[in-house]
Amino acid sequence: MSDALRERLVEDLTVEEAAEELALLAGEIAHHDERYHGKDAPEITDAEYDALRQRNEAIEKRFPELVRDDSPSKRVGAKVSSGFRTVRHSVPMLSLGNAFADEDVVDFLERIRRFLGLKEDEDVAIVAEPKIDGLAVSIRYENGRYVRAATRGDGNEGEDITANVATIESVPEQLTGKNIPDVIEVRGEVYLRRDDFFTLNETREAAGDARFANPRNAAAGSLRQLDVEVTRARPLKIFLYAWGEVSALPAETHSGVLKAYESWGLPVNPEIALCHSADDMLARYRAIGEARAGLPYDIDGVVYKVDRLDWQQRLGFVSRAPRWAIAHKFPAEKAQTVLKAIRIQVGRTGALTPVAMLEPVTVGGVVVQNATLHNQEEIERKDIRVGDTVVIQRAGDVIPQVVEVVLDKRPADSKPYDFPETCPECGSSAVREINPKTGKPDAARRCTGGLVCPAQAVERLRHFVSRLAFDIEGLGDKQIRFFWEKELIHNPVDIFDLEKNAGDAVAEFEGWGKVSARNLFDAIDERRTIGLDRFINALGIRHVGETTARLLARRYGSLAEVLKLEGAQVGEGELWEELNNIDGIGETVAEAIVEFFQEPHNQQIVAGLAERLTVQDMEKASGDSPVSGKTVVFTGSLEKMTRQEAKARAESLGAKVAGSVSPRTDIVIAAPGAGTKLKKAQELGVTVMTEEEWLALIGG
Ligand code: IVH
Repeated sequence: MSDALRERLVEDLTVEEAAEELALLAGEIAHHDERYHGKDAPEITDAEYDALRQRNEAIEKRFPELVRDDSPSKRVGAKVSSGFRTVRHSVPMLSLGNAFADEDVVDFLERIRRFLGLKEDEDVAIVAEPKIDGLAVSIRYENGRYVRAATRGDGNEGEDITANVATIESVPEQLTGKNIPDVIEVRGEVYLRRDDFFTLNETREAAGDARFANPRNAAAGSLRQLDVEVTRARPLKIFLYAWGEVSALPAETHSGVLKAYESWGLPVNPEIALCHSADDMLARYRAIGEARAGLPYDIDGVVYKVDRLDWQQRLGFVSRAPRWAIAHKFPAEKAQTVLKAIRIQVGRTGALTPVAMLEPVTVGGVVVQNATLHNQEEIERKDIRVGDTVVIQRAGDVIPQVVEVVLDKRPADSKPYDFPETCPECGSSAVREINPKTGKPDAARRCTGGLVCPAQAVERLRHFVSRLAFDIEGLGDKQIRFFWEKELIHNPVDIFDLEKNAGDAVAEFEGWGKVSARNLFDAIDERRTIGLDRFINALGIRHVGETTARLLARRYGSLAEVLKLEGAQVGEGELWEELNNIDGIGETVAEAIVEFFQEPHNQQIVAGLAERLTVQDMEKASGDSPVSGKTVVFTGSLEKMTRQEAKARAESLGAKVAGSVSPRTDIVIAAPGAGTKLKKAQELGVTVMTEEEWLALIGG
């Protein structure tokens, strides 16, 4: 298309020019759709693609009579996701802990009582709500006006789906009523009713499109459409049940806030009840369970929340989930099918994971063809054999599992499964290490090939570029394998040298081209600056996932500090002590970390990365708090809060809470009844304060 035409304002176009441009746009967009979908090798960025579609839409709006039969705006489901802008949630969108058994619910309530130090007769009101099986979104209203909507994403950053959510009929453009805060982010679940889901699938099937597996996938697919008109055509619904940033809450209880929501015109689930005991909660769970099949939408459990907001505040969070709420899940759905074969996958730590290849079967509306068998021990324990009829179950998003064998249906000639003793990927021997602590063999067999095993290397690279690590756009599983096979990427450092070492070659590969290569190199360059937490997570240290990586990043603050671990020894020295003292890091994890940093090859990779990247320092846990980094000891009977609450509060402010007083203790908080610890503190000259003084120091 002529750039001169593209640069003209839509208002300035003549009818002839508009017709010419629409014809060109139809061809161009169809070409890019084909590159994206058919070939999985886009030539332009998603933003450029969006701009083309927007231009098309704007011209069609001005000249409706010129809309062509082959117009991109008439094509449904053109392009899904990844072209959205990122939105940072100022208040993270967290997840919930799970309860499965009745006792878990009793424990939950008990924990709350203990944490808050409540008297036995004190009433704790709990709200019970259905857990909607949809897609979490956050919608921002300013002065009552709809301004932005975002997906949950990784909890910290989501995708900007403002235009899409605006198409949902029940989402008001303007809130009405009393006490509307200047700013409020209302949060809830977008879903599709079951009957609408069936109709949608029928229409898709008739049009030759793939069916959606379940209403939740259909809702997610419908919402994350770059073409807003596709979203508009799907009858999405929403229930609001939480909030993020808010300038002033309209009530002091959760149920009060939901009432305000309703009064402002926001949809709230009608099945919400207040409970006053664990028995009440369980009765409500059973009642909702019985009503489940008759509800027009899918739910997968009940969510319990402490009603009083001041208590919610005090209870706070552990890791990524609130202490004041829990999801009580419905039991998983089960089905029987035949195990056709067992395939062995090799993970990034070398563990051989057996996967069951199944005769396809529908479980809870989803077709299941394979299920995890976990490890060798699991197969032996359940005596799972090829040819067996097995019971499989699927709960929510969890990977389907093989629960048990139906022995009555076992073929007469079946033999126990012979677990391979060599790695199917590299041929190295695969062993079950003896756990030094228990003296027993590990549950999993591991490949000993280490660096020579391609499966481990590729899995490590995949992890390195995955969403919660480096998240490099356009460098997914497929491309990693591709570059590995071309021997261009052997380790993470090679990714950042790819352009330098093979820039021209990449553009020449089949299905690539100059634009795709450029896009990839740009995406890589974009990640040359990265947060310390993501960097640590990306290293793929055994037992260190997203949460532990964040703990480490917050404790050490900078890569230089983390690298001091290269001099650490397992079981001795200050570095080891310090690592072990981090709340949330146990000995096994600490050991894995030290071993990782001791390994010369790992040191080389980390150094190579450090040379090529800017790893951003992380604010040390609440770095600006007056007690950040201090070691404190509580002793005596605290009067204002329970020991657990005091500990959680101190830790959230970056302090380390120790059980005994030593020369390294900074502050001892002595409550009435304090004895030997107080004495020791006085002997050592450690600062001692009362509970009131402590509270005054940390801001009440
Ligand atoms: S409350 C801080 N209430 O379940 C806690 N979540 O497994 C905020 N969900 O991410 C969540 N129905 O997407 C809450 N009534 C409900 C819910 C609900 C569905 C989803 C939500 C959350 C997930 C956690």
